[in-house]
Amino acid sequence: MKKILLASNNPGKVREIQAMLINDGIEIVPQSAFQIPDVEEVGLTFVENAILKAQHASKLSGLPAIADDSGLEVDALGGAPGVFSARYAGVGANDTANNAKLLRDLEGIPDAGRTARFRCVMVFLRHKQDPSPLIGQGVWEGIILHEPRGVQGFGYDPLFLVPEKGCASAELSPEEKNQLSHRGKALRELVAQLRGLAE
Ligand code: IMP
Repeated sequence: MKKILLASNNPGKVREIQAMLINDGIEIVPQSAFQIPDVEEVGLTFVENAILKAQHASKLSGLPAIADDSGLEVDALGGAPGVFSARYAGVGANDTANNAKLLRDLEGIPDAGRTARFRCVMVFLRHKQDPSPLIGQGVWEGIILHEPRGVQGFGYDPLFLVPEKGCASAELSPEEKNQLSHRGKALRELVAQLRGLAE
């Protein structure tokens, strides 16, 4: 079984990626198995941050690595919070504070001006100095609601209206979300490239 390190400790992400690769003879190892600390996300793009995370994890584990970076882009805010999504209301801010800031910043803006999208970039590095990472990307279009709805998911999910479902992302089951989400799309794109490598 070929091992790939996943630069994340989120058990949901580990399970989801493992499930997609189990029949390809790949074992996904969480970064906690090597006590790898989180790296500082100093990049200005999702691609840079995903590569930084994968390089760091591959360097410390000696394994090939997968990492992702994601965020929310709101058109009325010129694409913010973008790569700063996790720390929009300040370093160490929690989801509630970030969501409250987003609602404040969009106060008075009607639905037509509240278009937004989640973006995810997922990369694979064969080793820590791999000069040509595989890159999967996913985009999920939606509208920022005027108040939170739903309790599933995380981050901005309670404020993200999924037009094709008529509900917030936080009202979808994990399976429904994976089928539509930026992360699900990026992962499927990356897995297709990994399978191409194996051929
Ligand atoms: P990172 O990719 O772990 O750096 O996370 C970026 C941030 O973007 C998260 O902390 C969330 O605030 C936001 N985000 C990314 N993906 C999602 C999602 O699927 N739902 C809600 N928020 C998300």
